[in-house]
Amino acid sequence: MKILGIEGSPRKDGNTEKLVKQVLAGAHEAGGRTEFLKLAELSINYCRGCGSCRATGQCVIEDDMDRAVEAIQQSDVIVMGSPIYAWQVSGTTKVFMDRLCRLLTPEYKSRLNGPKKIAFAYTQGNPDPNLFKPYFDYQEKVYAFLGFTLAGRVQATGTRTKEDILSQDQTLSTAFAFGQELAT
Ligand SMILES: Cc1cc2nc3c(=O)[nH]c(=O)nc-3n(C[C@H](O)[C@H](O)[C@H](O)COP(=O)(O)O)c2cc1C
Repeated sequence: MKILGIEGSPRKDGNTEKLVKQVLAGAHEAGGRTEFLKLAELSINYCRGCGSCRATGQCVIEDDMDRAVEAIQQSDVIVMGSPIYAWQVSGTTKVFMDRLCRLLTPEYKSRLNGPKKIAFAYTQGNPDPNLFKPYFDYQEKVYAFLGFTLAGRVQATGTRTKEDILSQDQTLSTAFAFGQELAT
């Protein structure tokens, strides 16, 4: 079982990175093989809207998106992490999402090479855990449309400084247990 964490905060070692890594730690403990990709450390350019990828499955832009898609194809479970920016995923995460267009054929069939689960890890400054629920529900449908099986989410709230999540024992243990569950 391979579990891939993909994380879209531009901030190095921030709360989202820590949350995704905590899920991966649980998955590793349960016997899963894990890999972590930080989108901000990759070169992933904006989609140009040329439409080539829908026809061919290949993007005309040569950058690290090839590596990211290859890592997805080699995995059984994806853990997609993003901070909330302006009530949405971060721009870094959205640019990555746009580039996943190649996973769909012109007939909207998925090009995923087998069944894959996807789980989500969100962090937000606002303390209200329900504030973005309609957005999370909506956002995750995009991945279901691409062919992933939705496998749940973990969330840290009230995280502002980079270390805030470290004092949230319950969030960290929930994330660890979630990772264990994903790997079994
Ligand atoms: C540009 C920007 C926009 C943000 N917008 C929101 C927001 O709309 N709602 C919210 O709850 N938190 C918002 N936040 C706070 C972050 O979601 C929060 O601090 C998050 O944990 C940061 O993740 P990181 O530590 O991985 O960078 C924003 C932060 C930034 C930098």
